[in-house]
Amino acid sequence: CGIVAYTGPGDAVPILTEGLARLEYRGYDSAGLAVVGRSGDLRVRKAEGRVAALAASLPARFKGGTGIGHTRWATHGEPSDDNAHPHVAGSVAVVHNGIIENADELRAKLEADGVVLTSDTDTEVLPHLIARSDAAELEDAVREALSQIVGTYGIAVVDTRHPGVLVVARNGSPVVLGIGEKEMYAASDVAALVRYTRQVVHLDDGELATIRPDGFRTSTLDARTTRKEPSVIETEDAAYDAEGYTHFMRKEIHEQPAAVERALRGRLDGRFHTAHLGGLDLDPREARAIRRVKILGCGSAYYAGQVGAQLIEELARIPADAEPASEFRYRNPVVEADTLYIAVSQSGETYDTLAAVQELRRKGGRVLGVVNAVGSAIARECDGGVYLHAGPEIAVASTKAYTSTAVVFALLALHLGRIHDLSPADGRRIAEGLRALPGQIEEILRQEDRIAALAADLAKYRSMLFVGRVRGWPVAREGAQKLKEVSYIHAEAYPASELKHGPLALISPDLPAVAIVPDDELLDKNRSTLGEIRARHGRVITIGHTEAGEDAVVVPKNEPELDAILLPIPLQLLAYHAAVALGHDVDKPRNLAKSVTVD
Ligand code: G6P
Repeated sequence: CGIVAYTGPGDAVPILTEGLARLEYRGYDSAGLAVVGRSGDLRVRKAEGRVAALAASLPARFKGGTGIGHTRWATHGEPSDDNAHPHVAGSVAVVHNGIIENADELRAKLEADGVVLTSDTDTEVLPHLIARSDAAELEDAVREALSQIVGTYGIAVVDTRHPGVLVVARNGSPVVLGIGEKEMYAASDVAALVRYTRQVVHLDDGELATIRPDGFRTSTLDARTTRKEPSVIETEDAAYDAEGYTHFMRKEIHEQPAAVERALRGRLDGRFHTAHLGGLDLDPREARAIRRVKILGCGSAYYAGQVGAQLIEELARIPADAEPASEFRYRNPVVEADTLYIAVSQSGETYDTLAAVQELRRKGGRVLGVVNAVGSAIARECDGGVYLHAGPEIAVASTKAYTSTAVVFALLALHLGRIHDLSPADGRRIAEGLRALPGQIEEILRQEDRIAALAADLAKYRSMLFVGRVRGWPVAREGAQKLKEVSYIHAEAYPASELKHGPLALISPDLPAVAIVPDDELLDKNRSTLGEIRARHGRVITIGHTEAGEDAVVVPKNEPELDAILLPIPLQLLAYHAAVALGHDVDKPRNLAKSVTVD
């Protein structure tokens, strides 16, 4: 979900709708605005569906100097006008990201007091609690309301009794203030602010801010004043535009050579054939003492983590594995002092991953972050880490962040390997392989037309298998994930070696298999799997180095250890073009959100 807020001399409405459009990638079930008009009245408008529909429905007189806006991805309640934010009680309007866990209890209490609630949402209790407070300042009324709440939130509040004032607060869901010239902004994501200001202040969990056009004041939930230093957003505004591409997903696929360059920049050491990772904060003795590596992430971040675990195990010979952060946090894991934990997240906000990090830290575990969004919650919560520098990723389906994560893991594996047992010669071989990646990604992208034609043909199937062995296995999983996310074609990934233990029963001409077949020591094994599929009249599409023919995509050869970086790229194009062929909204797939900041 996304929040935008404005207070100043201008008209809030175009700023809010423009900001919301930039946040739409975070959620797009419904959108809404509340502004305080110049005569002090509250104007509210909500609409199911896209921000553009909301903007088009606004009458010309819908104006105001202070306002809040929201774009929603439904968690509680159906996407509908009633459930859209802002939620209103009397003079108070609230937009909220997060989940109020004790909402049922609070709703029951309010209803017992005669309050009529009009939505099914957890958020609606907030404006009522704020409106019922008799505190003189809006900030104190918000503080009182929040003290009754159990759960997570990023909120923005306006109240016609306090014209020109915005109150925002954060607990588990991001809020960033934007500082303008005699005007102020707030949002859940800098993407909504970059057009207006570069000066921002990130709130911490448990912080509130009162914002007026000429400045802001921050404090904690228990009313202690906090001091915040503004930081400057460095990302170019254009990074948030599709820049002539039909979709962000395609733009981001094509940005991968540059993203990989940025992930590598200044990190390879030509003298000792290792990698330098400034944010790691691990001296060689500490690095040698690591007995195990555990990588945590969700969705594509988890699959990239699986690639990372293989790289670390192969190059550094440290036992490593990846696990969904969402599972780890619920299973009371054993936290070991000599294990290095690594949290992976593009957004740095995924709640399940953040909760896993917090649980680890609470138990004394050491956690590094492999994160794209600078200054995000997960990056700040970790003991150090490595930024991807992939630039903003807007399409819901991750592409460049996945690739950059795999590259950062290769750097980390090289770094740890050269401290453990990787020889200088192997270090040099891997470093050279990494340097070759951007040019090789360009080569794959040049095959886009062919892959698009193949995708358009594959779009006729209802289901597909993705198979791969060892290094190809996380690639198969990511390929299946991409296809599911954007084309809605059912896709199941299986280790090639497991095929004969069950799924072979499914093979028929109606179920094509996409097989990851790199030219490595397992090529013969993989070929025999392809033979088993073909013998049962299954169509096989290969992604690899050696196979030829109409159903084969050939990628350039690099070092075998780095295969899992290049092999997914044709699969991204395959998923993208299958979705385009089927006429789907590629950047905003149904039921999904870019970052899931709730439980
Ligand atoms: C959501 C997105 C996925 C993404 C996952 C992790 O589920 O739909 O595409 O891989 O979150 O996101 P993160 O920002 O933590 O990498």
